[in-house]
Amino acid sequence: MSVTKAVIPAAGLGTRFLPATKASPKEMLPVVDKPAIQYVVEEAVRAGLTDVLMVTGRNKRPLEDHFDRAVELELALEAKGDAVRLEAVRHTNELAAVHYVRQGDAKGLGHAVLAAAQHVGDEPFAVLLGDDLIDHRDLLLEQMVAVQQEKGGSVIALMEVPHDQISLYGCAAVDGSGDVVRITGLVEKPPADEAPSDLAIIGRYVLAPSVFEVLRTIPPGRGGEYQLTDALQELIATEPVHGVVFRGRRYDTGDRLDYLKAVVRLAAERDDLGPPLLAWLREWLDSPSFPGQP
Ligand code: G1P
Repeated sequence: MSVTKAVIPAAGLGTRFLPATKASPKEMLPVVDKPAIQYVVEEAVRAGLTDVLMVTGRNKRPLEDHFDRAVELELALEAKGDAVRLEAVRHTNELAAVHYVRQGDAKGLGHAVLAAAQHVGDEPFAVLLGDDLIDHRDLLLEQMVAVQQEKGGSVIALMEVPHDQISLYGCAAVDGSGDVVRITGLVEKPPADEAPSDLAIIGRYVLAPSVFEVLRTIPPGRGGEYQLTDALQELIATEPVHGVVFRGRRYDTGDRLDYLKAVVRLAAERDDLGPPLLAWLREWLDSPSFPGQP
């Protein structure tokens, strides 16, 4: 059965970015000139997923507005003859059919995914976590969908991380090497000395609908939250679970420093902003006003 639905958990409080996220969702933080969430929706659409379900919570109205018509704004841009910006405004509501469901209590990623059960029904579906941006030139989700179609079961994106960072992620034990591996074990945020590998789960999954059954029965895991990783660990006993090892460009927008790096990198690679930004950066690095310069 083909994969057409994407689930994007977006109920997090964004505490790491306070006060910026006090009254506006972290998913709306701009990465250059697009909100972070738009990159994720565009990635899903590129991979052929035309139905997007966002799992939201309180304070998330701006997300709904962003993927909806903005009639007054469109009229004003039309009157000015600003075709480029008009197209940018219309693009976001024409991207995909975007639906919303509220998570209620925020009890972890597993709980958020379970909130999508009714909308998803009995088909394989993708989950995309908004804190991880995958460069649009690297076709990770496309590859994951292809692997799921070929092998069935569920597919998880993995990436090798430095050993001292593995405790920040779900971690996979795998069989085989290469780009597609069979997953033999999963553990959520293990201490480095207990981690079975340095392969971290990054925020892309293509899941069999059987995961919902497991999510309904698992006990709370790490941090007292219902963990998607724990549900997938259970699935391994009965169904194929594969990993696609990603070696491309991933930007973490969930952490302030990594967010800043993502903004600078993506701006530097743009035709319109890159050349003047890089010229200014070079000049500043060498100037006496650069912090730490003698
Ligand atoms: C979640 C998952 C974790 C995964 C990570 C990827 O954790 O629980 O397994 O490695 O996303 O970004 P979070 O970062 O939401 O704590």
